[in-house]
Amino acid sequence: MASSCRATVKTVGNRTGTSTKLLGLKFTNPLFLASGVMGTTPGGLKSAVDAGAGGVVTKSLGLEARKGHSSPNVVGVDCGYLNAMGLPNPGVEYFTEELSKVDVGAPVFASIFGEDPDQFAKLTEIASGAADGIELNLSCPHAEKVGSAVGTDPDLVERIVSKAVDATDLPVLAKLTPNTDRIVDIGRAAESGGAAGVVAINTVSGMAIDVETKRPVLGNVTGGLSGRAIHPVAVKAVYDLYEGLSVPIIGVGGVETPETAVELILAGASALQIGTAVATCELSVFRDVDRGLAEYLSQEDLSLEDLVGLAHRN
Ligand SMILES: Cc1cc2nc3c(=O)[nH]c(=O)nc-3n(C[C@H](O)[C@H](O)[C@H](O)COP(=O)(O)O)c2cc1C
Repeated sequence: MASSCRATVKTVGNRTGTSTKLLGLKFTNPLFLASGVMGTTPGGLKSAVDAGAGGVVTKSLGLEARKGHSSPNVVGVDCGYLNAMGLPNPGVEYFTEELSKVDVGAPVFASIFGEDPDQFAKLTEIASGAADGIELNLSCPHAEKVGSAVGTDPDLVERIVSKAVDATDLPVLAKLTPNTDRIVDIGRAAESGGAAGVVAINTVSGMAIDVETKRPVLGNVTGGLSGRAIHPVAVKAVYDLYEGLSVPIIGVGGVETPETAVELILAGASALQIGTAVATCELSVFRDVDRGLAEYLSQEDLSLEDLVGLAHRN
């Protein structure tokens, strides 16, 4: 897959990317590390920034340390990964303390997951000690009582977001699930609750079965699909959200080339996150996509802001 990730990237003079201001924060480029990939330690976050990420999101953090699901918990499938990690993490207090010791070099969003509004408020308060923004995981498809279990009811989403917003001065993002036919209603509920923006999408519910053993492949039986395979799902989600919401949208899902990035921005994303391609295309994906994006903007004589949502014009 590595070669297809880079096939269309050309070097463009001295241009190194497209700096942007969003959510009251400055980013050297609009390509952020997505939650769950490399963000398990502050050192991993810094490595992504050193490799060119304009911002980073931590692995989702809960109130207590947790081991997650038994392996196999990540398998490669056509054009992506299927994972059921089960949100393993060292706990929000430990991670926040470790993060406060490291200069990551770019804005850090702490991703958090909880079971109810009070837990989200507590997590937000703790994580705000070292982060620049908060991302509420309302969308993980493979963990009980959290993630999409609390992220598909608009009323609950509004209450969770509102409590989190009250617990911090930092911008709060709501990360949405594609495993619903109500993503715009949920996005609107997050906006009503005070979210500074929404992130779309988390992984798409899926599973794989081994034809030799005739058993499900993942330890958790079902999991979430990511990577190039879900890119069109992300484009549609961002497109629909842009029509229904006023807050900025951060697009995520199958970004691995300049074209996939431009497509999501045209759909309405103001910034992007990259997850699976960090593994399938190498860490250089941030710089490669940024260069290609800069070249596209230069050729089209457009700014990044001009490009956002351009596919909606009549
Ligand atoms: C191995 C793995 C672990 C992930 N862990 C998290 C997580 O902890 N929290 C979260 O909100 N999303 C998590 N995700 C979802 C990604 O952040 C992202 O939304 C999704 O993978 C789609 O983006 P991509 O196609 O660029 O990977 C994970 C994805 C993968 C592949």
